[in-house]
Amino acid sequence: MTVKRIEKLKTPKFIQQIESTLKPLDFLDRCAKNYGDIFFTNSFGNLETLVLSHPQDIQELFNPTNKIVDAPGAANEMFKPHLGENSLILQDGERHQKHRKLIMPPFHGEQMLNYGQQICEITQQVLQHLKPGETFIARHLSEEITMTIILKVVFGINEGLKFEKLKNLMTTWLSLTSSPISASILLFPSLQKDLGAWSPWGRYIRLRRQIDEKLMAEILERRQQVQSNNNDVLSLLIKAKYEDGESMSDVELRDNLLTLLNAGHETTATTIAWALYWIHQQPEIYHKVSHELQSLKTPNPINIAQLPYLTAVCQETLRIYPVSLFTFPRITLRAVNLRGYDVASGTYVMPCIYLTHHREDLYPQPDKFEPDRFINRKYSSYEFCPFGGGSRQCLGQVFAVYEMKLILATILLNYKLKLE
Ligand code: HEM
Repeated sequence: MTVKRIEKLKTPKFIQQIESTLKPLDFLDRCAKNYGDIFFTNSFGNLETLVLSHPQDIQELFNPTNKIVDAPGAANEMFKPHLGENSLILQDGERHQKHRKLIMPPFHGEQMLNYGQQICEITQQVLQHLKPGETFIARHLSEEITMTIILKVVFGINEGLKFEKLKNLMTTWLSLTSSPISASILLFPSLQKDLGAWSPWGRYIRLRRQIDEKLMAEILERRQQVQSNNNDVLSLLIKAKYEDGESMSDVELRDNLLTLLNAGHETTATTIAWALYWIHQQPEIYHKVSHELQSLKTPNPINIAQLPYLTAVCQETLRIYPVSLFTFPRITLRAVNLRGYDVASGTYVMPCIYLTHHREDLYPQPDKFEPDRFINRKYSSYEFCPFGGGSRQCLGQVFAVYEMKLILATILLNYKLKLE
């Protein structure tokens, strides 16, 4: 086989970093046009990273029997001040697998189905604040819903005053890193200087401390109620045991609650806001999805989750603008040849979900929102991969899709919205 050379982006490093931060989609479209589906970039900090988007390469890397890549926790080091050193995303190898095994069960199977009714009720409660004729920003509404779901369903905090206090604290704290510019305090350690309560980092760490105190107090209180049959995720994690009989320590619980909040709140909220946009942007899509919902004799969570057109709308929303443009970084454990390209051992690799989802050969007219493509064709998990893959595949993916469907269904069954 002839060995092909992998090209490196020709633009200077700092230009790549600025472009990829400020206009990530334009940057990626241009890279794909000029360099194809495999290229090296310096747009992620100092490390040269291999970006790839061909399904065959992704399959080769993520197939567990191949053992080609590892998902190094050290590559996510910048999240340490944000999530804490015990966060799942900072672990690797056996420790990572051990933690995943413990955190996974509440997000799957029967346990997750129990949350359906609660998700629909929370959506109704948040929607009650809307007045007829009022203009609102869909992203704010969906954020309020998903934040409430995380705090009630995952953290198990239902009590009025305590819930409100924690919600306000979390919302303010997350807003400090929610734009590409403000998030630079996490990206660049040189900006992490406490110059008092009004400086960006000073404000950030003071809020983080308050959140820490509240979460530790909550964990302590809930340990006393361990016999209760609460089924929120925190209660289940307190009771869960690793294979060696040990259970999670307080700091492990705290860091992983923050991880679930960060990984599961804005991601789902953004996707729901986009789904609302696409559904209301094309009247025929709105009619098809509403008709399907209205034809349900019993619109309960299980029936809603099985609707084929609603499922296709959610898949197409996750395809066209995947909230995570990339998976977390991987590192090659040995030299490998991908479709004729030689990749050295120790190379940092990032599959680009956005570019895979915009391949013309898989998704004709990729910029068009067309749910029917998911009805007419079955895509493999290397062709459609909004939740990544392999050993670090999104832990909340089943929960997220279930949540999306129930929130959209509750909105569409109870309200008639119009795009402004
Ligand atoms: C539409 C919503 C969501 C999207 C698009 C999404 C996407 C992703 C992606 C792309 C990854 C990285 C996968 C990889 O590197 O291969 C990831 C990881 C993760 N996600 Fe999600 N996610 C969503 C919602 C959620 C929810 C609701 C939760 C939990 C409440 C969650 C928890 C996690 C966790 C804990 C990880 C890290 C897993 C690990 O390190 O082993 N996500 N997610």
